[in-house]
Amino acid sequence: MVRQWVGGGVGRAAMMPRVNSTNGLRRVAATRYVTPFREGGSLPGLVEADDLGMYVLKFRGAGQGVKALIAEIVVGELARRLGFRVPEIVLVELDPELGRAEPDQEVQELLKASGGLNLGLDYLPGSFDYNPVVREPSTETATRLLWLDALTLNVDRSWRNPNTLLWHRELWLIDHGASLYFHHSWHPDRFPATTYRFDAADHLMLPFAGPLADVDAELGARVTPALLDEVLALVPDEWLAQDEAFGTEGRAAYARFFASRLAQRSWVADLEAARAARV
Ligand SMILES: Nc1ncnc2c1ncn2[C@@H]1O[C@H](COP(=O)(O)OP(=O)(O)O)[C@@H](O)[C@H]1O
Ligand SMILES: [Mg+2]
Repeated sequence: MVRQWVGGGVGRAAMMPRVNSTNGLRRVAATRYVTPFREGGSLPGLVEADDLGMYVLKFRGAGQGVKALIAEIVVGELARRLGFRVPEIVLVELDPELGRAEPDQEVQELLKASGGLNLGLDYLPGSFDYNPVVREPSTETATRLLWLDALTLNVDRSWRNPNTLLWHRELWLIDHGASLYFHHSWHPDRFPATTYRFDAADHLMLPFAGPLADVDAELGARVTPALLDEVLALVPDEWLAQDEAFGTEGRAAYARFFASRLAQRSWVADLEAARAARV
């Protein structure tokens, strides 16, 4: 078995994805639907856009609607700012006519239901699902990723379904659409951080993570209200406006969730207990 440490990260600043925090996310228009990805549940599609880039398109008309797209932006861009590699996220304008020649009825219906603004991730050609048993992660990377997923309630990073790609020998995070699940049943009074359980039992990184205290102190201090505002500003207004339950809160609803989660860190103690029991 080949064992190789990945995700050390030190001295690789030149390879880190660019963060463009002042101009927002780039916008492109889809010009060609290439093929569906059938690994996960939401049927994303590979598309070409008018900048000639290839993107993995996550459709607004898919099962979880725009909330999943909001979670992709908030958690993906937060992860990027905490030093993880995340493919560039763009906003993709889609003309539903693009699906007219598509023979697969399921795909055609998805395209028809997704006119307007969708979410795209830069396509990483030749990447494949990361398997930590084949290439062991560094303890630091494993601990950080476990902490991030617990903070953001990302239930979609198990060893069965890693949503982590290996590309150019580095770890890249994808698929944050199932995180921040509180927003599907949003209610203004429902914010004690302890209400939201995170089950780490099947997490991809649980067997490789070290003690959480240092990572919790460091990353927790970096998730400031200013950083969250910067990330939340990237979410298109029209996606936030689709849920009347958010009322006028919009971005503030997410900011309040994070403030509550960071103020009451019993989830870190639970996570540490799960980790220590596993080792
Ligand atoms: N940026 C990307 N580059 C290359 N392949 C990707 C990228 N994003 C997703 N994929 C592939 O598409 C699959 C489905 O994408 P994902 O975001 O996980 O959607 P789902 O919600 O369907 O699980 C992934 O498991 C992966 O194989
Ligand atoms: Mg997935």
